[in-house]
Amino acid sequence: MKYNVREEILNLNVYKAGKPISEVKRELGIDEVIKLASNENPLGCSPKAKEAIKRTVEESQLYPDASNYELKEIIANKFNVKHDEVFVSTGSDALIKMICNTFLNAGDESVMPEVTFPRYDAATKLMGAKSIKIPMKDNGLDLEKMVESINSKTKLIWFCNPNNPTGTIFTKNEFENILNRIPENVIMIMDEAYIEYVTDSNFPDSLDYFKEHPNMVILRTFSKAYGLASLRCGYGIAHEELVGYFNRVIGPFDVNLFAQQAAAAAMQDEKFIQKVHEVNKQGKEYLYSEFDKLGLPYIKTNANFIMVDTKTDDKQVFEKLLKQGLIIRPGHLLGMPGWMRVTVGTKDQNVKFIEALKKSL
Ligand SMILES: Cc1ncc(COP(=O)(O)O)c(C=O)c1O
Repeated sequence: MKYNVREEILNLNVYKAGKPISEVKRELGIDEVIKLASNENPLGCSPKAKEAIKRTVEESQLYPDASNYELKEIIANKFNVKHDEVFVSTGSDALIKMICNTFLNAGDESVMPEVTFPRYDAATKLMGAKSIKIPMKDNGLDLEKMVESINSKTKLIWFCNPNNPTGTIFTKNEFENILNRIPENVIMIMDEAYIEYVTDSNFPDSLDYFKEHPNMVILRTFSKAYGLASLRCGYGIAHEELVGYFNRVIGPFDVNLFAQQAAAAAMQDEKFIQKVHEVNKQGKEYLYSEFDKLGLPYIKTNANFIMVDTKTDDKQVFEKLLKQGLIIRPGHLLGMPGWMRVTVGTKDQNVKFIEALKKSL
């Protein structure tokens, strides 16, 4: 059978996600599996979000609110922005695709770091556009080179801060040095999926800039610190005219009612987010000290994961950890062969990971 599939699809690969716990249990016949592969929240989600999910069961037969009114109100109030400056969809992953749908024609260019969240590249290619990948500088984004690569074909420029998978940030000063050199007709996407974990006070919060820059799009998610990855809900903030275009592309019922209600409740539980931040901070300090003892170089992180140099074949380390019930993300899948990315877990999970790692090296 010869299907008339678009060439862009033929050239895409299926995204290889972190191995699910159920798959490892099935394959290895073991009961205890710890997943530190996809930067999920080891503390789960806010009890308030759980309550909201339970309550929503009674409304399962109803379509969700297509305008996402309540959730947008809560986001707008929290960040002191207008209701019409907020947009939401099924995870920031869907928003990445939506932005490409909105702006990219075949032959256009999208500038991004070489080692970053791979969905910018996939969504760019889906539209027949070209990804311009800028090599990293000291494992972080090379902002100067990224801006220098803008030309008349450039429609989008992607800034992941903190960057996945390196965990690095660029500072307020570094960003301000390039911000005004990005032409108004190039959309800059600030992907801040891990902002709640940031510990460096020099981190630039994009909310301080977007009012002055109508070409800035901020993306955030309920999947990481808010612990709601399974429900699929991401949000963004941008100029209201831009949001009007986005809302033409986003499907009316994309965000299901469970996600809307749980996300709204989760965002109002600031105490939970503070706890998540604190547990992550302690966890990363513990892991740093253990990597130091093992003589393994690592990149200091502002997120809930750490990139570690295994100094050997990361595929083998991955397999050996897997046999002990620990799932991490091998670096060869992330553009950094020899390295591995591990999500910071609970204290107990981190200790078990280090014990298993010692046996794997
Ligand atoms: C940098 C970054 N952006 C976006 C996403 C997508 O998250 P979600 O679609 O769950 O909101 C991820 C997920 O890992 C990520 O690491």
